Amino acid sequence: MNARRDITIELSRDGKQPIFLDIVASIVREIERGRLKPGEALPGTRALARSLKVHRNTVDAAYHELTMQGWLVAEPSRGTFVARDLPDLRPANDADRKSAPANAVRTEMRAPSPLRVTDGAPDSRLMPRSELGRAFRRALLGPAFLSDTGYGDPRGALSLREALSDYLESERGLIAPPSDLLVTRGSQMGLFLAASAVIEPGEAIAVEDPGYPLAWAAFRAAGAKVIGVPVDGQGIDVSRLASIADREPRLRAIYVTPHHQYPTTVTLGAGRRLKLLDIARYRSLTIIEDDYDHEYRFDGRPVLPLAVRAEVELPVIYIGSLSKLLAPAVRVGYVTARSDILARMVDRREAIDRQGDLPLEQALAGLIEDGALRRHARKARRIYQARRDHLAERLISRLGSEVTFETPAGGLALWISLRSGLSAETWAFNAHRAGLAVTPGLRFALDASRAPEAFRVGYASLDQSELSRLVDLLSRTRPD
Ligand SMILES: Cc1ncc(COP(=O)(O)O)c(C=O)c1O
Repeated sequence: MNARRDITIELSRDGKQPIFLDIVASIVREIERGRLKPGEALPGTRALARSLKVHRNTVDAAYHELTMQGWLVAEPSRGTFVARDLPDLRPANDADRKSAPANAVRTEMRAPSPLRVTDGAPDSRLMPRSELGRAFRRALLGPAFLSDTGYGDPRGALSLREALSDYLESERGLIAPPSDLLVTRGSQMGLFLAASAVIEPGEAIAVEDPGYPLAWAAFRAAGAKVIGVPVDGQGIDVSRLASIADREPRLRAIYVTPHHQYPTTVTLGAGRRLKLLDIARYRSLTIIEDDYDHEYRFDGRPVLPLAVRAEVELPVIYIGSLSKLLAPAVRVGYVTARSDILARMVDRREAIDRQGDLPLEQALAGLIEDGALRRHARKARRIYQARRDHLAERLISRLGSEVTFETPAGGLALWISLRSGLSAETWAFNAHRAGLAVTPGLRFALDASRAPEAFRVGYASLDQSELSRLVDLLSRTRPD
């Protein structure tokens, strides 16, 4: 069928491959035949979608794919163009063309770029980069930077601790004065420092199983023995925690992700929260609460952190991160804890990393103070909710009899359990060969014999067409 500029797009509609790949192949063919020339404009996605009678996301996906492969370039607010740096691909004469094998286009076309499914990363394409860039410039060029170029407080820039203190109180009901806040390089550093402040080498920490392997690595690096507590459909099994605490005299701490359990996404209910606080109180355990994606709550209000509920004397080390709000590459996390524990963490931090990145911290303080971070969170929340719903809908319609999942009330990932008899490892292996990197449940299991047949699929970093492609690849690679 013809669209503007006479591009010939052939849609097979035989269901053998996604329609966007038909569009990709047709456009590559047009470029190779010289009917689309370097620098020439492509039709707008809306117009092309209308003329092909397909969803605009499908054309978006095709253009995105071609841009990633280097055939097209997208120029902001101008449109999409054939890349200017392509060699002349036209055959020398008609005879050459006739002698070319019919599948020449297919063989020359590079395979679609692999689709990497994260465990719940945000979409860096949405990050408020210009605002952060401006804030960084202000921080570097402002008078505060000149007076602060030497070594500063190992807890981090005061301006950021003040901004975080206000933010945590208004967004999460958490009272944390700036003096009781420690800014870290991501929550990963916070996890290591927390364990090293409350656990002596050889003592133990209980963790959720399945859970977050990087936390276990941090605890082990601090010398702790890591003991798994099973997780069920309501989150960590607190009765099992109590019996483990009874038989482990060296248990000192418990690490939890109560808001959205990692990896199962479940929110720990009120009953279990209260029991957990009770167990910690009577067994003298420190709770390490990792609240890594608090802002992303789509259904109902976010649940208050355990740290808000705990009384003053109960040690809860509360750890947060900007990795989900901005991007994992912006290495800023933060911790608040009882003053004596925080002081030990600050000492250890200073021993390995004298202080954080001051201009970055000042820039982030600016981003919080002027409301840009909140505005970004609001916008991202809307987009991620639509992506969550889109993925859930596609999964139900394409793989409804192979998988089950609870649509999570929040967070940036879906925990997808497989129908009995299906192996997540085999499926992930097949998918990998088809260009889809997806993480099977085994990766999150401390006790491999209990590894869940499941996938954790982060949906926030992929747009709707990418999510459709993900489900398509999953359904095409399903093991028998
Ligand atoms: C459970 C959990 N905690 C914390 C984080 C954030 O880590 P960081 O702040 O070091 O980037 C993540 C990121 O993937 C996570 O999954």
